[in-house]
Amino acid sequence: MNKILVTGASGQIGSELIPVLREKHGSDNVIASVHESHLLDEVDLTGPSVELDVTDKKQVEDIIESTQPDTIFHLASVLSALAEQDRQLAYKVNFEALYTILENSVKYGVDKVIIPSSIGAFGLDTPAVAPNDTLQRPNTIYGISKVLGELLGNYYYSMTGLDVRGVRLPGVLSWKVEPTAGTTDYAVAIFYGALISGKYVCYLRDDTKLPMMYMPDAVNSLILLSEADGSKLQHRADFNVAAISFTPAELATAITKRLPHFEMEYAIDPMRQAIADSWPDELIDDVAKTEWGWNHKYGLDEIVDDMIEKLSIKLQDKIG
Ligand code: SER
Repeated sequence: MNKILVTGASGQIGSELIPVLREKHGSDNVIASVHESHLLDEVDLTGPSVELDVTDKKQVEDIIESTQPDTIFHLASVLSALAEQDRQLAYKVNFEALYTILENSVKYGVDKVIIPSSIGAFGLDTPAVAPNDTLQRPNTIYGISKVLGELLGNYYYSMTGLDVRGVRLPGVLSWKVEPTAGTTDYAVAIFYGALISGKYVCYLRDDTKLPMMYMPDAVNSLILLSEADGSKLQHRADFNVAAISFTPAELATAITKRLPHFEMEYAIDPMRQAIADSWPDELIDDVAKTEWGWNHKYGLDEIVDDMIEKLSIKLQDKIG
């Protein structure tokens, strides 16, 4: 039976991945680990959780030793915009803790570690339509940490046999937890603005095209890859996964079709604009399709319809 430990359990992805894992593997077998933040009720009340500061080496070792997971989903990570503002924190979480998790996984016989990578692992030299295997020279601390995760993952697999796997996720849209530390987060915040006040001030230029994905597809990509037949994988911790790409203007138009009074304004944040400009417009995910049968389900219209429906219920007190 699988015993799974998830770090970053209160984050945007952890909050939605854990209920799906518990459904599949049994609630008691999926341990949510969280540091000084609030778990969603559907995570908190449905199975075990532990306090874990991933930057505390002793705590990481103790928890891996005592819980004996065979799989770890290592989701704890500082997103791109916050990482630029707080390099020290980003270094501790995205670099040092990553190493601690990998070393202790080897030491305590963990079989598999799943580490999400990101579009942030690409840089200005990467083609705008990014193939799976291409030049990766990110110029952000977040991106550098994601390339490190990919390279270390492949290294640990070949040198120690620890089976490290990862997908390069696009910006992820979701309605349960609002992300606030990333560059792609406008694509979630815009719905809150549209529903609560009918307005949103976007910090990216109207024509900034970025790869995006709906949360159920992102969760599915992590689970599918974690379950894939290892003997068929040529890549390991470095798979592009793609769904759709759009600009802020295109997303605003899609929202206006459903909420005709919605108005978008722009006040560009130079830091986040520079990060977004260094990322590709699109990812090509042929390798993931071939090696483990990946495919996305949600397109722009389905995402916008579902976000508005779910957030209208969640925010009903604020919408008035
Ligand atoms: N969504 C992330 C960010 O914007 C990218 O992986 O930082």
